Amino acid sequence: MKYMTGNEIREKFLKFFQDRGHLMLPSASLIPQDDPTLLIIGAGMAPFKPFFTGKMKPPATRITTCQKCVRTGDIENVGRTARHHTYFEMLGNFSFGDYFKKEVIPWSWEFLTKELGLPSDKLYITIHTEDDEAFDIWHNKVGIPAEKIFRKGKKDNFWGPVSDVGSCGPCSEIHYDLGEDMKCSDDCSVATCECDRWVEIWNLVFTELFKDKEGNYLPLEKKNVDTGMGLERIAMVVQGKTSTFETDLLTPILNKVCEMTGKKYKQDNKTDISLRIITDHARCVSFMISDGIVPGNEGRNYVLRMIMRRALRHGKMLGLELPFLYNIVDTVVDNYKEAYPELDENRQKIKDVIKKEEEKFKQTLDRGQKLLDDLLSDGSKEISGENAFKLYDTYGFPLELTVEIAQEKGISVDEEGFKKCMKEQKERAKAAAQKIILT
Ligand code: GLY
Repeated sequence: MKYMTGNEIREKFLKFFQDRGHLMLPSASLIPQDDPTLLIIGAGMAPFKPFFTGKMKPPATRITTCQKCVRTGDIENVGRTARHHTYFEMLGNFSFGDYFKKEVIPWSWEFLTKELGLPSDKLYITIHTEDDEAFDIWHNKVGIPAEKIFRKGKKDNFWGPVSDVGSCGPCSEIHYDLGEDMKCSDDCSVATCECDRWVEIWNLVFTELFKDKEGNYLPLEKKNVDTGMGLERIAMVVQGKTSTFETDLLTPILNKVCEMTGKKYKQDNKTDISLRIITDHARCVSFMISDGIVPGNEGRNYVLRMIMRRALRHGKMLGLELPFLYNIVDTVVDNYKEAYPELDENRQKIKDVIKKEEEKFKQTLDRGQKLLDDLLSDGSKEISGENAFKLYDTYGFPLELTVEIAQEKGISVDEEGFKKCMKEQKERAKAAAQKIILT
């Protein structure tokens, strides 16, 4: 296995599929275009939704991309594991009614073992329980021993849709074994385990179904392919690391955060979590702002604010004074400008937006922290929904942040109560607006 940079892997992937008749498109913006059902693009296929359903004609029946993605569904894992991120890049190849399993399965194997040179004995396959066709191709055409192909149910081997309705289908995943010494227990196996030993590197989705509003799965007119391979994860494997934060995609940013905080990485577990959170979030917010998202209280604007504020709090925990996050932007931009020139064009804008938000947050954070400290030390085991809402509404503490801080002290937050307060406030705002119109 030869060392390759993230940029080299990205180029190699796109070229591999261009050589196989794919049109290469640049990453779409993180802001979905004409799609009110999505807040942010979170998968390589998301910009192509109408092509899968047949609602729109694609510019080519074979497309390849490296797509910017933001996912916050499991944000609490970010910083705590070696491979979760809020922002990541997804390498993908797509067939819109063109090729299907018998082409894409051998190609994926060829790319991993020949182009990237991954040792085949480290690769394991999962397929959907009922997918005999995928089994046959993996086993008889590619030559994978039957005992390295695992059948799994819908929870693991079915993908999509990205919102409530849309295209979806059974999938086959390729996993990489980081080695015996990473095992979590004596029965650690790719069949049952999601521990750090097994890296899911590539998901091949056989998009042949449409889930409708009633939850029915109907066959699509054409069979499609949608694959997704996380660039950070494959870079980790190719670069012989056990953490994505140690790849060339993230290390320069992590080093910058260490330099700013005066902390050394890998000295203290809790410090490392904060260092990784700031690293990940600085990269994510830079890309989001570059694509035109600004911090706010609704939708994707709130997602940005929440991510940014989480980074700021972890910076504070490591002794940084606000504003500091905007100082990491140059490192992010310099590391990514070759692949994403728009970041360089938007460098100053990104810094200005971040700095302004930091200054705003600094004022409220100081006041809110006092209230939170009082709540955490008054002896109760739970922060009430009203207090969590007050922290949110008056002091700018995102709920997720309050939950995280409280969790560190073994205290829970009444999230249902919080939601109730939020709903009541929205209703009050609506009533007030109506009153203004009526009077
Ligand atoms: N669309 C495939 C994936 O995100 O895994």
